[in-house]
Amino acid sequence: MSNGFAIETHNVHRSFRSRKGFLFNEIVATEALRGVDLQVPAGEIFGLLGPNGAGKTTLTKILATLLLPTSGEALVLGHDVATDALALRPKIGLVLGGERGLYNRISARENLRYFADLYGVPLPQRASRIDEVLARVGLADSADRRVEEYSRGMKQKLHIARGILHRPQVLFLDEPTIGLDPKSARETRKLIRGLVAEGVTIFLTTHYMFEAEELCRQIAVLSKGRIVARDTVAGLRRLVGGDRTLELEAYGFEDAEITRIKGMPGVSRVMAEEFGPRLRLTLRVRTSELLPTDLEQRLPGHPELTIRERRTSLEDIYLDLVEEEAS
Ligand SMILES: Nc1ncnc2c1ncn2[C@@H]1O[C@H](COP(=O)(O)OP(=O)(O)O)[C@@H](O)[C@H]1O
Ligand SMILES: [Mg+2]
Repeated sequence: MSNGFAIETHNVHRSFRSRKGFLFNEIVATEALRGVDLQVPAGEIFGLLGPNGAGKTTLTKILATLLLPTSGEALVLGHDVATDALALRPKIGLVLGGERGLYNRISARENLRYFADLYGVPLPQRASRIDEVLARVGLADSADRRVEEYSRGMKQKLHIARGILHRPQVLFLDEPTIGLDPKSARETRKLIRGLVAEGVTIFLTTHYMFEAEELCRQIAVLSKGRIVARDTVAGLRRLVGGDRTLELEAYGFEDAEITRIKGMPGVSRVMAEEFGPRLRLTLRVRTSELLPTDLEQRLPGHPELTIRERRTSLEDIYLDLVEEEAS
């Protein structure tokens, strides 16, 4: 490890070539990652946020040595993922979302025996290590049931158990709570916090803002293969204009009115969206001086106008960042 960073990337690019078109004779190149620079401090949960297709899984797979970067450099625990993968693999764990990767016809315990052998867990330690991780993820009571009887949440816990069986120093979790019911998702997040408390570095991808906000100290936002922001939650809030969000709703606004609002002191961003028959304007406001009553005065002729103030959420900030990139 260098400079206390568990993960470091420098200008990582990754493109895919795939076939498209009626006869699959058209070759298209997708640039999934377009120059990613990251540093993840050891012992933290680092959150990588981004919408579908942003490149989260591609980056996770590169860091976990399942895919090679097209160019650029990535170091995990000081090992270059491209040239030093064999030395790195025993030190990392990977949990990809979804149903794949487990054997359904056998029990959880039997699955873990198989993976323990695969990961080189010494045989004398195997049984106790398996009991330990099963207890850890809360599956001790169902350990001898076949995995096909497991709920989605139980399968995800088993995936995590598999990922930590060989006591990795860095654990990659790709959308660990996707598709889980709220209770299982909460239990999974609690489990993740417990692992960090033991010193494991966690690299987590998610498209749930609240999840990143709850778990992660530092967050990077990935949009179309580029990191568009990297900061703490508090830092991200500061980045995109003040903390205030005002929502105005009426049966439509004139263009001139929207222009007028955009020009008001402290207004850093105005987004319009249809909301049933009404139009909603969401304002990001930097100053505490702009009051709802000021807005009401500047928008005469809207008896149906409603104005609501709410705390700017990480989700708002994230959408701002992703939209800025798109526009
Ligand atoms: N094996 C592949 N072949 C072709 N395109 C791919 C492949 N894997 C990913 N992509 C493309 O790369 C982009 C990023 O995908 P991905 O990393 O899965 O994003 P995310 O995990 O953020 O949803 C997408 O446009 C996706 O279609
Ligand atoms: Mg993905």
